[in-house]
This record gives sequence, structure tokens and C-alpha cells, in this order.
Amino acid sequence: MFRSILTSRLQAAFEAADIAIPEGLDVVVALAADTRFGDYQSNAPMILAKQLKTNPRALATQVVEKLEVSDLCEKVAIDGPGFLNFRISPVALAAKLQVIVNESSVGVSPVEKPQTIVVDFSAPNIAKPMHVGHIRSTFIGDSLARVARFVGHKVITDNHVGDWGTQFGMIIHGWKTQLNHEALKADPIHELVSVYKAVNAAAKADETILETCKAELVKLQAGDAENLGIWKECVRLTLEQLERVYTTLDIKFDHYLGESFFNDALAPLVDDMLAKGVAVISEGAAVVMSDGSVKQEQDPFLSQRDGNWVPAPCIIRKGDGGFGYATTDIATIDYRVNEWKADEIWYVVGVPQQLHFRQVFAAAQRRGVTTKMIHIAFGSILGPDGKMFKTRSGETVGLLEVIDEAIERARAGANEREKDLPPEIKDFIAKTIGVACVKYAELSQNRLTDYKFSWDKMLSLQGNTAPYLMNAYVRVASIGGKLGIDWRYEQLPNECAFTEPAEIALAIKLTQFSEAVYDVLADHRPNLLANYLFELSNTFHSFYEACHVLNSGGIVLNTRKLLCQGTYKVLGKSLELLGITTTERM
Ligand code: ARG
Repeated sequence: MFRSILTSRLQAAFEAADIAIPEGLDVVVALAADTRFGDYQSNAPMILAKQLKTNPRALATQVVEKLEVSDLCEKVAIDGPGFLNFRISPVALAAKLQVIVNESSVGVSPVEKPQTIVVDFSAPNIAKPMHVGHIRSTFIGDSLARVARFVGHKVITDNHVGDWGTQFGMIIHGWKTQLNHEALKADPIHELVSVYKAVNAAAKADETILETCKAELVKLQAGDAENLGIWKECVRLTLEQLERVYTTLDIKFDHYLGESFFNDALAPLVDDMLAKGVAVISEGAAVVMSDGSVKQEQDPFLSQRDGNWVPAPCIIRKGDGGFGYATTDIATIDYRVNEWKADEIWYVVGVPQQLHFRQVFAAAQRRGVTTKMIHIAFGSILGPDGKMFKTRSGETVGLLEVIDEAIERARAGANEREKDLPPEIKDFIAKTIGVACVKYAELSQNRLTDYKFSWDKMLSLQGNTAPYLMNAYVRVASIGGKLGIDWRYEQLPNECAFTEPAEIALAIKLTQFSEAVYDVLADHRPNLLANYLFELSNTFHSFYEACHVLNSGGIVLNTRKLLCQGTYKVLGKSLELLGITTTERM
């Protein structure tokens, strides 16, 4: 990709000019903020001149003399106080365009050092309401996994479902006393959640019910056959229904190693941590405490109270002998490291679990784990009123409800636009667009900010929405149709001459796909790809307005065909990386 090549050439030029780069300073080339002056830019000479206390323009001139980029750039200009502006040459652009249209990499070079990356995402809890946080995790995690895989990493996706925990005391009691078997058959997740809610409310009002639930939980943990049977059935029914939802969403997991999978590993793990001194016994519980190895502000085992730092231990075995969420996560890390040889583990989980992960990572590191562990956190989804997102009936919204409603709304739209299509096709379009809208509404947001959920905005054909992007794709596909060309297979002659600025602008945009892909990975932010996709669609629309494709001829026609084919392939691949299924009708 141009950006990284230019960056290394610029670094080499500094070296050739004998200008030492001070520690902590990075010489980089970036996409131009204003494309009137160039396609790429660097302010390195200015930053360096300030440090070295010399004249920035003189320094820039010295560097440019040593800069070898004639294969890529027409010229490198020194502008203003010492900016470098790079303009990519048409020859270099045309060459890159060839790669984009002809290779399955779509011009994205593979990662230099492929890693084994475990992506932990979605992870709903069985028999507990799925909340909107699971929507964010599901879509962000899936997209990141796709992007990492695309550049050549070995990616293992694992759905760490919450299939063990105190909620089962209530569920088992409810199962025995008030389960509606018909409702369970029709919608198991819904019935289990309502049983859970009902028992929870009853237990709050009546102490004896709470005691009964606790007793059911103890029996389950002790391996009572009847309770184990009920638990297994809950897990089976829920997973079956979840699988159907994931299929609708076109999301696959390599593994479903839920919390219960690690049950047998917990006791020996805690013993080992105690034996190694990673954990200690405190007030009857086994805990991990601060070891003073990092600054107080950064220590996950300390918290501030009334201006003082006080211990915030991570409990790995409670006084009553029970294990918790953190213990399971530490055991899960062992498994991923030992069995899967994970180089990196990515956790796509909401911001509220930040402390949990800081503690778990620190505890694992103290046990000698060197795998890179990253908490890819996200904020909340708010309702249109800016408060917690609720359904029409006032319930908190779950993944299932959102998807269903999106499909119904998209169906209404498709019915209006495409009256004459056969019902199966309309059904496909409704599902594709409905799912795409919800996914894209999520993926076009910066994951760390809270965002407002708006049906009208997400389904709109205008603006940065899935339908707008899908429409651009439909448009390129239909240009191919009019030319009698299937862009997927067409092998166009390698002849390219740009005659219009709009062509060059589109060509440049297409070559920047690889930069968008690597930006996503650098920051674990799929919205950088979404932004790119939106810009590409806009650039394509401008090209389409400025340049006739169908009634041009010769090399001009061929160039424009190449640009359309490139757009078709880059749009298609970008949508795929966001997990969005394309359709050529909508
Ligand atoms: N089940 C958890 C929840 O719903 C998320 C699990 C995330 N993954 C993990 N390894 N802790 O909050």
C-alpha cells in the first residue's frame, strides 16, 4: 500500500541525509487531509526541525533530495512551512488498479507476521435476557474476525456463552413449578427468561423461595441428576435457537466453549495459583492482590477511597468454596494458550467489564502468560430519547427483537419499491436489508461512544446507511449488466489512461482500501472501514455523474470499466468484511 511504502522511503531518506531521528519520534506519511495538494502528506520535517532547532524548509529540502519515490509519485512538493505533499503518478495508480481488479486480495497485501488470534465475542447468558450490549459485541467481533482473517491471520472465534451461574437456581425452581411447555417449544429463550424474571421477583418478596432456589443451585453444583438434566436441556434449547439467529445474521463460531466447559479446571487452577503465590488466602477466600509491581494508578488490584489507595482484590474462590466469573476467565486463557497456541486474545465486551479484564489479564500474566490480551470495549446503545433503549412495550431490547423488527420494516420498504417481485425474492431482500441495516448502524459508529438507535435513520436510503451503500453496489452491478459484463469474471485489457479528475479521485480511493483494512486492525475499529466505504460510494457517485461509461469508447471506456470493476470488487469485499450480504436488487 502506498502509505506504508512512502513511510519507509521517507525514513530511508532521513537516514541517507544523515538526519538522526530522536527517540520517540515517528516519521510517518498519512493520507492527505486536503487532496488539492497531494494524495499523501507528511509533517515529519516540521516536527523534527522543531526538535533539532533548525529551519524546517531547509530540512525538508535536504530530505527530498535523498527521497526515492519516482516509481510512485509524479512529484513531491514542499509546501507551507515544511509540509511534504506526495502526488501518486497515473502509472502507479493504473498498476495498482490492475491488482485490485485481478487478484483475490483486492490489492490488500497479506500481514507480514500472521498470528493466531482468538476472538471472544457475542457470549450471551443462558436463561438471562440478552441485552443490546450483545448486539454490539456480536457485530463488532464478527467484523474484526473477518478482517483479521482476510489479511492472513489464523483466527479462532469462540462464543464464551454464560451457561453456568447462579441464575440456574431460579431457573430450575421455575422449571419445576411454573414452566409453560408450549411456550418453551415455541420460543425457548423467551420462556426461560420470563420464568427467570418471575422467580426472581417472587424470591425478592419471599425469603423461603430464595432459599429453595439456593438449594436447587447447590444440588446442581453437586451433580444431582435431575437438576443437571434440566440445566442441560436449558442450554441445548437456547443454543439451538441462538444458532438459528446466528445463521440469519450470517455469523459462525468455530467453538462454543461456554463457562461450564471450564468447571473441572477451576479447583486445580486455584490450588496452583495459591501454590505459586499468585493468589493468597484472605478472610477465607482465595484472592489475587496487588504485588506493587506497577504504579498505583495503573494497578488493577487497588482502588481509590477517600483519597487513599485501598486493596481491590480479585476473588478467585469465595469463602463458601464457589468460583466466579474471573476464575473461569483465567482458566479459559490457559486453554486458549495451551490448546490453541493463541498469540493474541481479543475480548469484545462492554466498557463496564473493564476492571474485570484488567484484573484477569494481570492475574494471567503473573502466572507467566505472555499472550497479548486485548479488551475491545464499547459503549451503550441509547433509545431515540437518549435514555436506555427500550422496546415499544417498555422492555429492554434484545438482539432477537431488534433483528425481527428490522426485517419487518425492511419488508415494508421492499413491498413498496418492488411490487411485482415473487414473494421468496422479496423475503430474501427484506432479510438481507433488515440485517444489513442493523449491522451497519452499529459498525459505522465509533465503538467507544454511546449512540442513539434510530429506525428511520438506519433504514434510510440517504446518508451513511447500509441501503445507501448497497445501492451503490446495485448501481455498479447494473452498469455491468448494461454492458453485458459480469464484473466478477471479466478480464479487461491492461490499458488505462485517466482523462478526468473524477477518474483519478476514484482510482486513488480504490487503492486506499488496504489502508482502511489495516487501520481497522490497528485500532480494532470496524467503523474506519465503514467510513471508507461511505467515502468510496460518494466518490463513485461523483465519478458516475462526471464520466459517461456507456457511451465512451476505446481506452477511455476501458479505463472506466476498470474503475467500475474495481469499485464492484472493493465495495463487495468491504461489505463482506463488515458481515453484510450483498444483493443486486433492492
Ligand atoms: N457472558 C458475558 C456477559 O454477558 C460476556 C462474556 C465475555 N467473555 C468473557 N470471556 N468474559 O456479560
